[in-house]
Amino acid sequence: MTYRLVGLCGALRADSTNLKLLHEAARVSGADPFDIGDTDLPLYNGDVEDAGMPEKVVRLVELIRSADAVVIASPEYNRGISGVMKNALDWISRMKMPLKGKPVAVMSAADGRAGGEVAQFMLRHCLVQHGARVLVGNAVCVADSSNQFDADGRLKSELYVKTLTALMEALRDEARLRAG
Ligand SMILES: Cc1cc2nc3c(=O)[nH]c(=O)nc-3n(C[C@H](O)[C@H](O)[C@H](O)COP(=O)(O)O)c2cc1C
Repeated sequence: MTYRLVGLCGALRADSTNLKLLHEAARVSGADPFDIGDTDLPLYNGDVEDAGMPEKVVRLVELIRSADAVVIASPEYNRGISGVMKNALDWISRMKMPLKGKPVAVMSAADGRAGGEVAQFMLRHCLVQHGARVLVGNAVCVADSSNQFDADGRLKSELYVKTLTALMEALRDEARLRAG
């Protein structure tokens, strides 16, 4: 059965550990197809919106609408989610709430010892406004993230793989429930 998963990343750098975490999430869940939405968007500006929704935002929202489930990973910047993530969520909210009722799993990867737990809390808080069906429990917070992936982008720790697998199985179950 097709399981269309879309990942949203709160970091833009090519070597992002959050991006690696999203790819690991897709791998353990056996998602097919899996796409990463482009979160490299212009800063939200009402004048830009009034002139016409940016094409990148339209494409991102179409991708989200097409998904059975969404997985979001954000780094922690100064005890909050990244501006990239917040900006993407703000744009997304301007297009008739595509995350409403959508099964969503949130994760974080950060250099700190708590693995971005505070940012993840903020992410969950922001998603309430979107009406997303955010999974609870099985939190994946990858601490010391720059040392947690091997050269192939695989998570080194069995414990993280186990927790990630549990989260992604729960997400797939939620998507199945929603599909009826
Ligand atoms: C502006 C800035 C603020 C940061 N603040 C935190 C923080 O509050 N907590 C934390 O654990 N790491 C913090 N970090 C480190 C990030 O967690 C680390 O750079 C992370 O790996 C970035 O995610 P990425 O690998 O996906 O790019 C900060 C980094 C930057 C650039």
